[in-house]
Amino acid sequence: MSKIRVLPEALANKIAAGEVVERPASVVKELLENSLDAGALSLEIDVESGGRRLIRVQDDGDGMTPDDALLAFERHATSKLQRADDLMEIATLGFRGEALPSIASVSRLLLETRHESRESGTSVEINGARLAGVKELARSPGTTLTVRDLFFNVPARRKFLRSDSTELGHIVNFVTQYALAHPEGRFVLRSAGSEVFSLQPVPVQRERVFQVFGGALLKQLVEIQSEVPVFYSGDDDAGEPADQSECIRVHGFVSKPEVHKLNRNSLYFFVNRRMVRDRIILHALNEAYRNILPAGIFPVVLLFIEMPLREVDVNVHPSKTEVRFRHQALLHDFLRDSVRKALMDARPQTPFPAARHARSAMSDSPFDAPPIAEIAFPGTAPGASSWSEAASVSGEPASADRPFTLSPPTPAPANATLPFRSENALTIAGSPSTTVAPPLSASSNAVVAAVLPARSLAAAAGVLASGESAEPVLVAQSQFGIVPLGQVDNSFIVAADGGALLLIDQHVAHERILFEKVLRQRGEGKVESQRLLLPLIIEINPRQQVILENITPELAACGFDVEPFGRKTVAIKAAPAGLATADVQQLLGELLEGLERETQVISLTRLREKIAASVACHAAIKVNMHLEHSKMVWLIDELQKTQYPMSCPHGRPIVLRYEKDEILKAFKRI
Ligand SMILES: Nc1ncnc2c1ncn2[C@@H]1O[C@H](COP(=O)(O)OP(=O)(O)OP(=O)(O)O)[C@@H](O)[C@H]1O
Ligand SMILES: [Mg+2]
Repeated sequence: MSKIRVLPEALANKIAAGEVVERPASVVKELLENSLDAGALSLEIDVESGGRRLIRVQDDGDGMTPDDALLAFERHATSKLQRADDLMEIATLGFRGEALPSIASVSRLLLETRHESRESGTSVEINGARLAGVKELARSPGTTLTVRDLFFNVPARRKFLRSDSTELGHIVNFVTQYALAHPEGRFVLRSAGSEVFSLQPVPVQRERVFQVFGGALLKQLVEIQSEVPVFYSGDDDAGEPADQSECIRVHGFVSKPEVHKLNRNSLYFFVNRRMVRDRIILHALNEAYRNILPAGIFPVVLLFIEMPLREVDVNVHPSKTEVRFRHQALLHDFLRDSVRKALMDARPQTPFPAARHARSAMSDSPFDAPPIAEIAFPGTAPGASSWSEAASVSGEPASADRPFTLSPPTPAPANATLPFRSENALTIAGSPSTTVAPPLSASSNAVVAAVLPARSLAAAAGVLASGESAEPVLVAQSQFGIVPLGQVDNSFIVAADGGALLLIDQHVAHERILFEKVLRQRGEGKVESQRLLLPLIIEINPRQQVILENITPELAACGFDVEPFGRKTVAIKAAPAGLATADVQQLLGELLEGLERETQVISLTRLREKIAASVACHAAIKVNMHLEHSKMVWLIDELQKTQYPMSCPHGRPIVLRYEKDEILKAFKRI
């Protein structure tokens, strides 16, 4: 007797449900996709108990005829694919003909629908795959799908569900994502009868982003728009050359370097309006933000990518969120360059943007929380990119399975809203009781900044010895109108820029200047090198030996002369100019250790940047170092001329800026 049996349909559906219906949010996703595929422009979603008790999606789409309403629950029944070739060019969100039978097999489901061509509608009731009734029904065209008691017949699955608020968080996340991709649609989400959000149709994506995230975040986003033609080479299996109109286009929003997120939950990618998770896109972004954001810190990014249908294979995974690109290298470089260019173009025109984003860097503070709370992106693309590693380092699980709350962002405690808390008070080195008075009126700002009584200014800037003239002195300002006032703790430059107060981390500021200088010189083949009086001998392990051999030519081009010296040691005979001997040794050790940790082969550009960052870090002026006034002016000027004056090569903020309004508020003057 044969051991192999064909599974009964109900069991096959349950197995399929295992893949497609992971949690309530997956039901919401499938139902939303069906509604959007049916051309719906109004979508209302109701949930109860995080979707486990009830999920209802109501749309004004095409609706179904009575026959279709029954057929929809047959396995592999779909209106979206006609021929095998269609699979190569899928224009709809669904195509597998699996979602409805799968959902019906693990819940109590009611379908109410009316096709626009019919006078009346149909209702179909199914309980755990068993047909419980079919009726005629009066209703407006469109479809309402109600799913109750999800997993009532699969206790094992029920146990895997998280708290209602976590499940609701995932639902909010999916609805938000589809709302972002479909600004022309009306999206209403209610939980237990109360409205979570209601988004009216808007003509452009920018307005939808505003509805979802609010104006404060939108101001921090740079809009990007670009396209690249796709050419098919003769040996490409697609055959014919592309016609002129075939392009990959990207439109979207990327956050300025000052915006810092501690996890990847604010990265949204859409391909042909399908929400996707993708390593290629993630990697391209990582590259675009390299040397702009620190490790473990993420931007806010929304990318809407449009490409010819045959450029992307969506039939890769049952949940249809993973895709495969035909020209992935092209897409990767196109996205990287588009984002990078947008960031470059958006370089601040005013000297330094406000500090509060830098301040939120380490805490994801309530200041920049989006109005509907942080949106979790369950299981954002895994991958070998440094961002995914960084995510776990920061202690946040990549798959954002954390409690979700719908309450508005908690207001910061009273003292936290003040830019200057007692611990931040600007005490001047050497005279702890003195605090720098912020300029208080617009007209006097520049004057106050430029001409101050010599004694206080001297104390601040450290330019005069005590007892010297107390006459007003004119203080040199930078070419950009920024006046350095002094240092805090011999580490941070205090400066005035019109009405604003700046705090500049002198070490990282110099690091940014040197980093770009070293890279520039390397690019021009003009690195200045210095021979060491005595060769430095350092010990290295066998793995580092292999790495060193590989990078020796690049090291040489960057001004190092490193030669093997015995079995486990190397001799450094020359190093880039400007480095102290003690630093050279440490630099090389750190560089090798850093490269040892790399899991992937790194590109030459990346290696160059790593070397430049190490040289810059070691050659830069240190903290706890007194700076002459002229040196501060120089530093500010040079920093202003760099490409990214706001963050150091490792991505840390360089400048904190306190606007006059913030200062006035803190003094309760406004
Ligand atoms: N809201 C809706 N409005 C109109 N027709 C719908 C709606 N939902 C489902 N349908 C019809 O029911 C069919 C089956 O839906 P189902 O979600 O099971 O499969 P699919 O969308 O074709 O593929 P997938 O399994 O990938 O989602 C669809 O092809 C569509 O014709
Ligand atoms: Mg579907």
